[in-house]
Amino acid sequence: MSKQIFTKNANVEKLEPYKRRSALLPRLQEVQKQKGYISDNDMQDIADEFDIHPVEVYSVVSFYSFLTNKKHGKNIIRVSTCASSKCAGSDNVVKAFEQSLGIKAGECTKDGEFSFEKTSCLGMCDVSPAILVNDTLVGPVNPEEVEAIIKACKEGGVLPNAYTTKATKRDGKIIFSKVEAYVGLKKALDCGFDAVIKEISESNMRGRGGAGFTTGLKWKLAAEKQSDVKFVICNADEGEPGTFKDRVLLVEYAQTLFEGMVIAGYAIGATEGILYLRGEYGAFKPALEDMLEKMRQENALGNNIFGKEFNFDIKIHLGSGAYICGEETALIESLEGSRGEPRNRPPFPVNTGYNGHPTVVNNVETLIAVVHIIAKGASCFKEIGTPNSSGTKIISVSGDCKKPGVYEIEFGTSIVDILSMVGADDTKAVQVGGASGTCITKDEFKRKIAFEDLSTGGSIMIFNKTRNMLDIADNFLAFFAEESCGQCTPCREGIPVLQERLKMIQENNCDEDEFKDLFSLTETMADASKCGLGQTAPKALCDIIEKFNNEYTLLKDKKEKEIYG
Ligand SMILES: Cc1cc2nc3c(=O)[nH]c(=O)nc-3n(C[C@H](O)[C@H](O)[C@H](O)COP(=O)(O)O)c2cc1C
Ligand code: SF4
Repeated sequence: MSKQIFTKNANVEKLEPYKRRSALLPRLQEVQKQKGYISDNDMQDIADEFDIHPVEVYSVVSFYSFLTNKKHGKNIIRVSTCASSKCAGSDNVVKAFEQSLGIKAGECTKDGEFSFEKTSCLGMCDVSPAILVNDTLVGPVNPEEVEAIIKACKEGGVLPNAYTTKATKRDGKIIFSKVEAYVGLKKALDCGFDAVIKEISESNMRGRGGAGFTTGLKWKLAAEKQSDVKFVICNADEGEPGTFKDRVLLVEYAQTLFEGMVIAGYAIGATEGILYLRGEYGAFKPALEDMLEKMRQENALGNNIFGKEFNFDIKIHLGSGAYICGEETALIESLEGSRGEPRNRPPFPVNTGYNGHPTVVNNVETLIAVVHIIAKGASCFKEIGTPNSSGTKIISVSGDCKKPGVYEIEFGTSIVDILSMVGADDTKAVQVGGASGTCITKDEFKRKIAFEDLSTGGSIMIFNKTRNMLDIADNFLAFFAEESCGQCTPCREGIPVLQERLKMIQENNCDEDEFKDLFSLTETMADASKCGLGQTAPKALCDIIEKFNNEYTLLKDKKEKEIYG
């Protein structure tokens, strides 16, 4: 193989060893962007630069879908094929691209101009079918616009319906979370870090990223841990199918979010914050950097913030296309320059997090809500919602409805009210919490969004009478099969078996014993998988085959199978 042109990054050598390793992913992203791929020789050179074995570099490159050691086309077009995108017609968009480019998904055109891929949810379900053209999110895409998109790529023109930080078209309402700039931060700095943690604890605020851990307790544990170095990480890896509320918050509420990170840093005694931004939202990075710079100018970041003896700054780290990096320990592994494989817990990040230091990881929405709590008071926050679920929840609604979008609702709002708000008719099923969430039927629509009833990181996917629920389950399983990190057996081996069994059910070729086996496998996966992905991957399938048993027929026994199978 001929030697590729490679420019050594002299700055890397100057970094301390642990910081150097954290610089690996940004370095690989740089080479990927410059050359379109990372060749074997590049990997060898980068290994030399970082003083690690080339196999380690390869293991990182092969983990992330945005990094590749095979030549890509000059332009990469990725079409989202999540369940909501499919409802909106993504299959027709795929067909139109395949026809226009003369290639199948996963291939590259002969002239090297285009690579075309199917991908999981792009966080654009409110404007789906959506695509990612190089770094630009585009949606909705009409099959008739495909030629114009290809032309714009070739000629450097404007992409129709590009979603940018300057021109955002969306439906929905966010009212409650609006707070005047720096009111919360100044109040926090005035009242002292103990009082901040007390206020957050009194508000009963629970994390909005999905797991619902109490924010005040998380901060208290990190604050109590003795260490000169601590970190605040904002989890903006939003990858759960049907979730796009963090995208809107990042574009419209960046200042409040960063303010929340500073408050968290002050409360726990950290001086550094990191925003882990999903790779698909890379186009938002320049605007976010500008906001950070503005806040530095205004002394809301940097040294002696607002005249207090408190220094804090924030940097942005871009992900590289791996859903599992949303899991907080996988995210930390990724930040440390490794494959994003979840860790065993304990130890928890509040004790041993980023580079071994105490670390608080919070969702985008959590950090925005925190500013609201400090600015307006815990009691004001607790007045809204239910006794066990204080405040509001920002939800992403997609699928079969007239007004998909990002809405802020009070905890305790019922599904039936949400369906009426977004103009959903003939709804057969609602998937709450994304592919890893709960699927409910019509007779459960009075259930409420709350930690004690239907808990969700934000995703609400609506399916009407025309949808085949087994196809939806199949779509979710394909997502998990693609995104499992493969580290533990129940998840790695279990998901393909679930897919196989589901196919048998779809083909009316599953007998009752095989059906029972499937449930016993799902229990094993829930019990023995290392992280939330493997533990929750079978959930939607179980819900769907239990609740929609009128959509398939089981063979009575093996004998029947032998005769008719
Ligand atoms: C597979 C998986 C994916 C996750 N993805 C996200 C995500 O995209 N964003 C997020 O905030 N939390 C995600 N989480 C939850 C995080 O691990 C963590 O609980 C959360 O970031 C903590 O923030 P919070 O307490 O503010 O909710 C995910 C968890 C799992 C198991
Ligand atoms: S459960 Fe799945 S995603 Fe999680 S660590 Fe195991 S293999 Fe990886």
